[in-house]
Order: sequence, then C-alpha cells, then structure tokens
Amino acid sequence: MSKSEGIIQAEVDKAIEAALTEITGSASLADLKKAKGSILGEGSTLAGFSARLGKLPGDQKAEAGKMVGSARSKVTEAFEARESELSSLEEAKLLEKEAIDVTAVGRISRTGARHPLTLLQEKISDVFVGMGWEIAEGPEVESEWFNFDALNFDADHPARAMQDTFFVEPTEQKLVLRTHTSPVQVRSMLERPLPIYVLCPGRVFRTDELDATHTPVFHQVEGLAIDKGLSMADLRGTLEHFARIMFGEDAKIRLRPSFFPFTEPSAELDVWYPGAKGGPRWVEWGGCGMVNPNVLRASGIDQEVYTGFAFGMGIERTLMFRNEVSDMRDMVEGDVRFSQQFGMVL
Ligand code: PHE
Repeated sequence: MSKSEGIIQAEVDKAIEAALTEITGSASLADLKKAKGSILGEGSTLAGFSARLGKLPGDQKAEAGKMVGSARSKVTEAFEARESELSSLEEAKLLEKEAIDVTAVGRISRTGARHPLTLLQEKISDVFVGMGWEIAEGPEVESEWFNFDALNFDADHPARAMQDTFFVEPTEQKLVLRTHTSPVQVRSMLERPLPIYVLCPGRVFRTDELDATHTPVFHQVEGLAIDKGLSMADLRGTLEHFARIMFGEDAKIRLRPSFFPFTEPSAELDVWYPGAKGGPRWVEWGGCGMVNPNVLRASGIDQEVYTGFAFGMGIERTLMFRNEVSDMRDMVEGDVRFSQQFGMVL
C-alpha cells in the first residue's frame, strides 16, 4: 500500500475547511447551489475520498470511513444552515420589496359619466325622431355664404362684425366658425329631397368671454320643416309638443314678434315652465319663424309651392333653467362630479 492511498485526518480537515469557507462565502441560494456541486459532486475532493475508501486495505477502512463520513455530515450540516440563513434573508428582501404602505393616501378614480349637454341633446333628438324627423349635421367651419348670405343677412349686418364672429384666416377664403346652426337649414334644403323635416343639434361659436352666462363655444338645436301648406300653426303645435315633453304636461309656449333675417314673420319663443326654480314662470327659450322666401329661393325651392318653419335654441341655456345649473362654466370645466349629479337620464 503506498502512502498516497491512505486517508489522513489533516487532508480531510483541509477539505472540510475549504468547503466551509466556500459555503459561508455563498451570498445567494444560487451561489450555494453551485458550491454544492463543486464540493460534493463528481470530481470533488470529498467524492475522491469516497472512491479511495474502497481501495483501502481492510484494517484502515473503518477508521477512514468514519473520518470521511463525519466530514460529509459536517459539510452537509453547514449547507443546511447556510441554506436556511440565505432563504430567510432572501424572503425578507422580497417582503421588503413587496411591502404595501397601508397608511398611504389612496388615489380615487371616479367612474365617468355622460355629460348632461350630451344627454339633453339626445333627449331633444329623441322627441323629433319620434315624430319622424331626421337628424342633420353640418360643418363647424362654415363658409360665410351658408352662415350669413344664404340666410338673407345683409352684407353689413352687425352679426358679421368682428366682435361676434370668429373669422378663419386667411379671411379671403371667407370661412367662419359657424355662429349658429341655421346654415344647416340651407345645406338641408340643397341636399335633401322635399318634404324636409330635420333637426340639427350642434356646436356653435361666438366671440364671447367665458363667464357664468356666456361661453364662446356652445350648442344649439335647429329645427327645419319644409312642406306644402305649412303655417305658423304647425310651428306652434310642434313647439308646444316639444315644450311639454321637455318641461311637463302643464308647459305652454308664447311667441313674441321679433326679427331674424332668415325668417318672416319671426318670433321670440318663451316657455311657461311650471317646475321653474322659485315657481312657475315664462322663460325665454329661443327664436323661430316661417322660413323667409329669400332663403327658400337661395336654396332652389319654389316658394309658390312650399313653405317652411324653423326654430332654434341654445342647449346650455336650456340646461341652465331646466336643470338648475347656475354657472355655465361648470359645463365646460370637465369635472366629472358635475356630470355625475345628473345620472344617466335627463
Ligand atoms: N339662429 C338663430 C340664433 O342663433 C335662432 C333661430 C333659428 C331663429 C331658427 C329663427 C329660426 O339666434
């Protein structure tokens, strides 16, 4: 038996010491797993001892076997100890990373709501669709011809003046942001077959400062009917029906003589609102009249055969007195709490 075949305590101790250093030096479970391979796996010093044990002469086997066995168990113990140490360390780190601050101030995200102007616009549309009318739309950037000329506005009508109308540059193209929905009357008459019953809700623009009762961008709804034999009585009946649906069975309307270039005769429309804040009263609601023959002519309609009526009102204004909104700015600021007050039905 050569000396190198024997297993001596010093050699084993050295291997144990090297193993323990590696084990305690492992900084993570992954490192420890690697260390386990190199300390106990194939080709490791400890595996080498086991291989050599088998070749020892019988009288040395028992002692050497004990030496190697105790070395293995020391190393295994060290592994287990380091493993549990590392796993609790890693768990603690993970917990820290995933910690939730239960005292932090919450972020409240509110459920959205439909805007009351949209709801009101839809309610109005429903009233007329229910009577067989169609919904018509037109562009918000409109030619001056549709917004003014075709509607019988004089070339020097004050409404064209800079302080009311947003003109689109370059001004030679004669485009404006429409100041009312009435240009859709003309577009409908040019585009649609007769008879015509259309309702046009839409956005309009005027150079007003935003305050409690004005906004430079607002909404109107325009109605236009062109048929044989239509009279003021049809206009009255239509508006009365509309008013009752909007303001209750006891609502009434009243027409006061007025002037619009595109209607003749023209009237201001008031509504008797039984549910008004502070008690029943007359409220100014919009404008209306019989379509001016000049407007029919500009739209290519034979005014000997056809007559028509038109009306228009502001949707913001309607919302203000119908649903008791005292400040128009609330309608444009976009705070969802404002919209939520109205629910989903108006
Ligand atoms: N377009 C008018 C306005 O903005 C309202 C109106 C519409 C009047 C239809 C008569 C007929 O003031």
